[in-house]
This record gives sequence, C-alpha cells and structure tokens, in this order.
Amino acid sequence: MQKLPFKSIAEKTDLKGTYVLLRSSINVPIVDGQVRNQFRITRGLVTLQYLVNHGARVIMCGHIGRDGTQSTKQIADLLQEYVPVTFSDEVAGTKSKNLRDALKDGEVLLLENVRKDPREKKNDANFARELADMADLYVNDAFADSHRAHASLVAVPEFLPSYAGMNFVHEYEELMKARVPQSPALFMLGGAKFETKMPLVEQFLGIYDNIFIGGALANDFFKAKGYETGDSLVSAIDLSDSPLLDHAGILLPIDVTVMRGKERLVCAPDAVGYHDIILDIGPRTVAMLTPLIANAKMVLWNGPFGNYEAGFEEQTVATAQLLAAASGYSVVGGGDTVAAIESLFIQEHYNFLSTAGGAMLTFLEKGTLPALEALTASEE
Ligand code: ADP
Ligand code: 3PG
Ligand code: MG
Repeated sequence: MQKLPFKSIAEKTDLKGTYVLLRSSINVPIVDGQVRNQFRITRGLVTLQYLVNHGARVIMCGHIGRDGTQSTKQIADLLQEYVPVTFSDEVAGTKSKNLRDALKDGEVLLLENVRKDPREKKNDANFARELADMADLYVNDAFADSHRAHASLVAVPEFLPSYAGMNFVHEYEELMKARVPQSPALFMLGGAKFETKMPLVEQFLGIYDNIFIGGALANDFFKAKGYETGDSLVSAIDLSDSPLLDHAGILLPIDVTVMRGKERLVCAPDAVGYHDIILDIGPRTVAMLTPLIANAKMVLWNGPFGNYEAGFEEQTVATAQLLAAASGYSVVGGGDTVAAIESLFIQEHYNFLSTAGGAMLTFLEKGTLPALEALTASEE
C-alpha cells in the first residue's frame, strides 16, 4: 500500500482528554422529520467510536441540506443510540463553548449545521478560527463533502494539527484503486447531469476498456446521433461533433424502456416516438452488459440507469444483482445509485460502496479534492 498523503487518526492513540474537532459527513436525506438513509452515519461511526473509546472529547460538526435551513438535531438523536452526545443549537459561539467546556472524556458535542453560518460556504478564515479554537486537533472524516472548499473542510486545517478519519482513508484507498484498474475494466455511468460527468468519461477512455453510458446521459448521445428522443430528459450538451459519439470504447443502450402515453414498452433507441419518454434502459442492454460484468477485473459504477424514484428501477436492479454476483473488483458510488439499490440488501457483495456522490466523481477525475489538499498541507 502506498503511503497516504495525509496523517490518519488511526495512528494516534494518545487521545484521552484531547478536544477533537471532527468534521463528519452527515448530509443524509430527511423525510417527514426522519433520517431516511443512515448509510453515511453508519460509516462515520467507526471514527466516532474510535475517538470516544480513546477518551477524546469530541466536537462534531457537519452540514445537512443545501441551504443551511435544516438542523443537525435529528442526527444527534440518532447518534444517541451509539455514543453519549449533547447537541448545541448554535454553530460556533458562547453556548457551544460552554457545552464544549462541560464535555467529559469520551463524550460528544454535535454542533448545529455549519451551513447555518454564511461564512462556512465562503471558506471564511475567522469562522474556521472560531471552530478551531474549540479543539486541540482536527479530524476530517467527511470524504463525501471534501470537494467543497468550505471553512470546516478547507480553512480549519490551517489552524490545527489535522488528520483524516477512518472512513476518509477507506474512501481514498478504494477510489484510488478504481483510478488504475486492471484490464479488462468496465466503467458504467448513468444518472443525469452529463455536464459534471463528461470530463470523467473523456479521461477514463484511455483507462477503462469499456465505458457504458446509460440513464439520461445516453439520451444526449441518441440526440446527437439524430434519433428522436421525444420528451426524454436531455442535457444542454451538444455531442454532435464530439469524438465520443463513435468511439469504440463507448457502449450505449441497445434498447430502452419508454412511456408512450400510458403504455410502458421497450424499443430500439432509434425507434423512440415523438412524444415518448425514455425512462430506463432495456433487458437486451443488460444482456449485452452481462458478460462484460462477469469478465471484468474491475467494474466501476456511478449513476442509476433509469428514473428509479418513479418506478423505473428494473434494469438498475438487474445490473446491481449481476454485479453483486461477479467475481471482479466492484466499486459503486453516487447518492442516487446507492439509494436505488439499498432495498436489495446486497451492499456487502460489492468490494466497495462509496458514501460519496459529487466528491467521488471529482476524486476519480483529479485524484485529489480541496479538503484532501488542505489535510496534506496541514501535515507539512
Ligand atoms: P448519483 O447520485 O448516483 O451520482 P445522479 O444524481 O447523476 O446519480 O443521477 C440520478 C438521477 O438520474 C435520478 O434522479 C434518476 O431518476 C435520474 N435518471 C436516470 N435515468 C433517467 C432517465 N432515463 N430519465 C430521467 N431521469 C433519469
Ligand atoms: C453530497 O451529498 O454530495 C455532499 O454531502 C455535498 O453536499 P452539497 O452538494 O450540498 O455540497
Ligand atoms: Mg444524485
């Protein structure tokens, strides 16, 4: 194993009585006041329990939701089952400081959503200093958020000795493997937002033997080929002059599931009608992928192949099951991808299931992230 470019908290055991500022990935979906998916929380427990078991006094923080209107209170309620935790309804401030002073060894204080403070997203040094002032050292376990150059992720490590948490290290090591796959390697890419995924496709063409493009992303290819895409979701990207269009390394669906009025049917991509909506790939496409999945030494997958939230999950599920049964190394990630397959209870059949969405894509493309750079710089 290569040397890590940052320090890992796993190597530090003398933590008794130490105030640790822990930046966690707690951005989970809340539906009707309940945490709907605990995957990120569960994966974060390893570091949290390590700190608690070593007698650290943990000041935990993170964001939930985009705009800072949601509270992290529900997360505190949930963590209560695992560790002794109190909640502060402010981020940095007198109340948080007093609660911090009351911490005993092995106790956790969860701060309110860091995005409640507008300085978080501005990567403000004063805000970072206020957070850092509460602790002796800093741990970033929020790999999934580390593509954001925000204060609790990037500015804080300037002020404290900084370490990566166990989940951060795990994500780093596993996604590094996916950047240098053994051949034959298959990259399956679905979902939407082609704008954010296109650079990765271009880069991985020389690295993965086959890149399969499914989900709404494939619609952009169909459109560029001059096929009718009806009322399907397409992006603003125009691929008509792109070398990707006829590249031998790129595979597209050979059938698609569409809604034609109230009828759900499967047809060839060039037989989509004027008012059809492409909502999933088709079974012949999954049959095409079957031997590639079975024979690949590495399969990397991001993005569901259909509009799974609306009931078009069939081919995503079929693919997930094929991959779970395959013998090659499997790396799967993306918030929606993980959500689409969570009910199958086959997660443990993959070699690695990433907690990250956007951060996974950025890391795969660049091999680094702003908050990872900050950890590395803090070490020097
Ligand atoms: P991830 O979160 O796993 O990285 P994305 O956010 O890129 O994935 O994409 C997931 C979204 O793509 C889901 O909302 C899903 O419904 C949508 N999607 C996939 N295929 C289609 C399609 N054919 N038509 C409409 N939406 C689609
Ligand atoms: C994610 O869910 O991708 C991360 O938690 C980052 O959240 P954000 O997209 O709101 O910055
Ligand atoms: Mg998503």
